Amino acid sequence: MGSVVSKSRPLIVKGFGIDHADLPPFEAGRNDPRDWFDNPAARLEIEIGCGKGTFLVQQAAVLPNVNYLGFEWAGEFYRYAADRMRRHQLSNVKIVHTDATEFLRFRCVDEVAAVIHLYFSDPWPKKRHHKRRVIQDASLAEFHRVLISGGEARLVTDHDDLWTWYQQHASRHVDLFEVRDVERIESATEGEIVGSNFERKYRREGRAFHAMTLVKK
Ligand SMILES: C[S@@+](CC[C@H](N)C(=O)[O-])C[C@H]1O[C@@H](n2cnc3c(N)ncnc32)[C@H](O)[C@@H]1O
Repeated sequence: MGSVVSKSRPLIVKGFGIDHADLPPFEAGRNDPRDWFDNPAARLEIEIGCGKGTFLVQQAAVLPNVNYLGFEWAGEFYRYAADRMRRHQLSNVKIVHTDATEFLRFRCVDEVAAVIHLYFSDPWPKKRHHKRRVIQDASLAEFHRVLISGGEARLVTDHDDLWTWYQQHASRHVDLFEVRDVERIESATEGEIVGSNFERKYRREGRAFHAMTLVKK
């Protein structure tokens, strides 16, 4: 993605974006993100690192009875995605400007999400940066805690080394998750797995993809 996503018009996040500073005080205890939506009883799905929000906006339009919550820590993409959600006037999608792994670990209540989507996550190829990858032993334990019974984490990447990392982590946690294939996501078009911004970009470059679903045991 380019470093600047929109210079030409003001980006409005109100009603769709939740800034880290607007989260309830840490001391108030864990948050239930279902309460942030018009219909808190609806199924909740989370996307970690949603970039410009392409996947979230598409999914929220196709499945209006599901609530979609994105996490994006880069301010310019957060603002772009929140503004995009506002322009589409979708009441079932929101984005939080914070570190998703920190939110899940320290702020999120148990058993809240039906799906955690993680698409084309930053590979952090240097060994000394591997600790920055979203998938870690600790984050898989948190995924397991915040997923509802039978909930799923769906992982897609083009990066061979990151894929090996995913496989190694999945095989270390067979007590927590069963590994299955990823089926085409509802809003993806023919020939796509997810239809996210990065999938489309990498598909044009002819890259191959790896995908797995981790089903909570
Ligand atoms: C390579 S982009 C992929 C964007 C999108 N998922 C797609 O497939 O088009 C990865 C995005 O994840 C964001 N990100 C990485 N780690 C994150 C974290 N722990 N919390 C929130 N956002 C994160 C980055 O800022 C970046 O926008």
